[in-house]
Amino acid sequence: MEIVTYPGPALRRGGKKIEVFDDALRATAEAMLERMYESQGVGLAAPQVGLDLELLVLNPTGDPDDRDGELVICNPEIKSRKGNEWGEEGCLSFPGIYAEVERAKKLVLSYQDLDGQEQELRADDFLARIIQHEIDHLKGVLFVDRLSSVDKLRVRPKLQDMERKFEARV
Ligand code: CO
Repeated sequence: MEIVTYPGPALRRGGKKIEVFDDALRATAEAMLERMYESQGVGLAAPQVGLDLELLVLNPTGDPDDRDGELVICNPEIKSRKGNEWGEEGCLSFPGIYAEVERAKKLVLSYQDLDGQEQELRADDFLARIIQHEIDHLKGVLFVDRLSSVDKLRVRPKLQDMERKFEARV
């Protein structure tokens, strides 16, 4: 399982609603968690591994031994948001790029687990930030879309460099 880096087209395609909760989905989620830990990330969305599914995995500690911190989220929907806060983000699809993004401080999320059971989750601070970042991926939205105008200018040369390398590859 390879991570799609910017400007890989899969990143803009987003994901489709999951209808079938089977062993294949379970295996995909497990492989995504493994890939996330290998890359020292705290979250990974299906479009980042080239899959157009509304599926994301996360663990705020990023520690593969901390199974309790893991969340596998299917078909998420943010029901409510409260407060706003700027905080630094990175993304496995943008190696080496970090910038501040404004996100809701608290949220209530509804989603389905790997058995297709409806779940509700209240999240704040870092967990809420990860969830919002990963849900963006499911809609083809990237964190660089949400930067301040100053940061957009700052990261532009790095993005252009990644675009050039991508064009040289394909
Ligand atoms: Co990301």
